[in-house]
Order: sequence, then C-alpha cells, then structure tokens
Amino acid sequence: MALSDCKLIDLPKISDPRGNLSFIESEQHIPFEIKRVYYLYDVPGGSDRGSHAHKNLHQFIVAMSGSFDVVLDDGKEKKRFHLNRSYNGLYVCPMMWRYLDNFSSGAVCMVLASSHYDESDYIRDYADFISLTKQA
Ligand code: TYD
Repeated sequence: MALSDCKLIDLPKISDPRGNLSFIESEQHIPFEIKRVYYLYDVPGGSDRGSHAHKNLHQFIVAMSGSFDVVLDDGKEKKRFHLNRSYNGLYVCPMMWRYLDNFSSGAVCMVLASSHYDESDYIRDYADFISLTKQA
C-alpha cells in the first residue's frame, strides 16, 4: 500500500436545522472492519502525537471537534493533511509513519482501528521503519 492509498474520505452528512448527523459503517464507508475506537482530547497547545508506524493496522482519523494536522510519510515522501470537519476523515493504511500536530484548543481526534491494541504491531523507531520500507 502506498501514500496515494491514504486519502480523505467524505462521510454521509444528514443536514438538519436541529444539528447535523454523520455516520460510519464498518467496511462500508471505510475499507476495514472496526475493532477499536480511541480518541485524543485535552491535547495541550504545541503537543505532537503519534510518531510511529503500524505493521498491519488500518486506521481512520476524524476531527470530531476543532482541528489538527496529520503528516504521513511512506519513507520516500511526506504529505500533510489538515483535518477540521466531522463529516470527513483520513484513511491511513499500514506501514505509514505518522505524526499529528497543530492541534487547536478543544480538538478531539477520534481514531477507528482495524484491530485491538497490540504493542507488537508498532514500529516506534524511524530508522527501523526506513529499513523495513526498503525491504518491502
Ligand atoms: P500511542 O499509540 O503511542 O499514542 P499516540 O500515537 O497517540 O501518541 O499510545 C499511548 C499510550 O496509550 C501507550 O502507552 C499505549 C496506550 N494505548 C492503549 O493502551 N490502547 C490503545 O488503544 C492506544 C491507542 C494506546
């Protein structure tokens, strides 16, 4: 999988004067089965999160509130995405180094993930990541 597979996906949006509604169905709106949901909140200004890759995990990242940037790096090329809408999100395929920064105050970052938490799926060292991308 490549950086070009990682893209913003628009979600259904039911506009309503009482408040808008969006939804995400596993394997329908995103290309994997959802096994886990986690979220980042109360992120102090200037914080960075992430800075790792996953061997097998697929993720979908949504700015539920506020905004932040996600930088993806496949070992050759980097791309910065600005997330600031609740009706779209960024699909992140396996073997993609990522970090999140530029959090607005009150930002909430929700991540849908294709498997349960597994530390052995993480690549936390950038040099290890680069050597693995060269082997692929
Ligand atoms: P980590 O994935 O490194 O955070 P981030 O990439 O957002 O900066 O996780 C931080 C800590 O939280 C780490 O000790 C593992 C733990 N954690 C879980 O226990 N379950 C989870 O689902 C996640 C995402 C993290």
